Amino acid sequence: MTPLPHAELLDYNTFSLPAAAQWLVTLESLTEFAAVRSDPRWNTLPRLVLGGGSNVLFTCDFAGLVLVNRLKGIRVEDEGDHWLLHAAAGENWHELVCYCLQQGMPGLENLALIPGCVGAAPVQNIGAYGVELARFCAYVDTLRWGDGAAERISADDCRFGYRDSIFKHEYQESHLIVAVGLRLPKQWQPVLSYGPLAALGDRATPQAVFDIVCDTRKAKLPDPAVLGNAGSFFKNPVVAKALADRLKADYPSMPLYPAGEGQAKLAAGWLIDQCGLKGYAIGQAAVHQEQALVLVNRGGARAADLLALAAHVRDTVAARFGVTLEHEVRFMGAQGEVFLHEVMA
Ligand code: FAD
Ligand code: EPU
Repeated sequence: MTPLPHAELLDYNTFSLPAAAQWLVTLESLTEFAAVRSDPRWNTLPRLVLGGGSNVLFTCDFAGLVLVNRLKGIRVEDEGDHWLLHAAAGENWHELVCYCLQQGMPGLENLALIPGCVGAAPVQNIGAYGVELARFCAYVDTLRWGDGAAERISADDCRFGYRDSIFKHEYQESHLIVAVGLRLPKQWQPVLSYGPLAALGDRATPQAVFDIVCDTRKAKLPDPAVLGNAGSFFKNPVVAKALADRLKADYPSMPLYPAGEGQAKLAAGWLIDQCGLKGYAIGQAAVHQEQALVLVNRGGARAADLLALAAHVRDTVAARFGVTLEHEVRFMGAQGEVFLHEVMA
């Protein structure tokens, strides 16, 4: 545990936005948790847990404690028809996917190259190319901030949804995720529903799926080490089926995905693209030229630029299509989470 006062957060967020935290503490072992909980320097301050900082936008300095989760360790148990993988929250997600593939425990390959740490994966139920974490999650191990006790939360109790879980709601302030349990069936079932994967057909192998997912992602999504970003900035909107049908009649080429009874999911990237916003910039913040759902920091952008750009994209799409986009990226204000509609009405 290494507490730093007035810490710079530039290297702790993939948008590469400058911001400072009153305190920054790196958590490297479970035994340090009690000390972090009770330390009078920060136990009354707002708190923010960070993994890789690949889904956050600091709107200003953070007047509290940033806890960087670096808990490490992977354990595997053979449970007959499946492997049970127990991964500490500070493990890198993509390295875990690679490790499983190398060890002959496939299943996670559709989720390759998603930046960030294992501990954040259940928070928004990470998903890509037809697979979500929920498909494999057995449990999430947590420590409660209130009484310091350990609590294992079963996958059923995580209330996983599209980019959603209980960790974005009731448990956001109260639970620190310390490990995730994943159940990987030994009978591999490829998920090839996504366009470029479907072409694999009978030739599908875990390695082939992994390679196509990595190639597709590299072609579409900017590398945060080169161009600051946090992946999809907005969620794909889930709207009433009646509205989706009306839009589809007007725009027959519009992508449309099923989303439960009476609803449909639209492609936010397509909506933004149709508004001609690719490359649109405010200051050094821009809509990515290759993928309109990604907002990027071209170098030296300020949070105010990104907020103004996000509001412009939201308002332009709403005016043209009557659909309100919600951001997937978590905005952090001085005291904790804030939302675009609060900071840019
Ligand atoms: P952070 O950004 O550090 O944290 C995200 C949120 O989780 C914060 O609210 C934080 O407080 C909370 N949190 C983090 N760790 C813990 C913990 N241990 N306990 C409690 N709360 C915690 N996401 C997808 O779902 N699919 C994609 O395909 C995808 N592609 C991406 C591509 C790029 C290029 C980028 C930059 C991002 C992408 N993302 C994607 C978003 C992001 O990578 C994921 O949301 C990832 O899980 C975030 O991990 P992180 O460790 O960086 O989390
Ligand atoms: N599209 C455009 N123009 C664009 C971008 C997209 O027309 O500029 C169209 C595409 O042609 C396609 C549709 O929109 O028909 C969807 O695009 P894509 O397949 O690239 O996926 P996405 O909806 O933009 C979602 C996730 C990604 C995930 C990919 C792959 C969300 C918010 N985003 O993106 O997740 O990697 O699917 O499954 O659900 C993330 O969450 O950060 C993220 C990157």
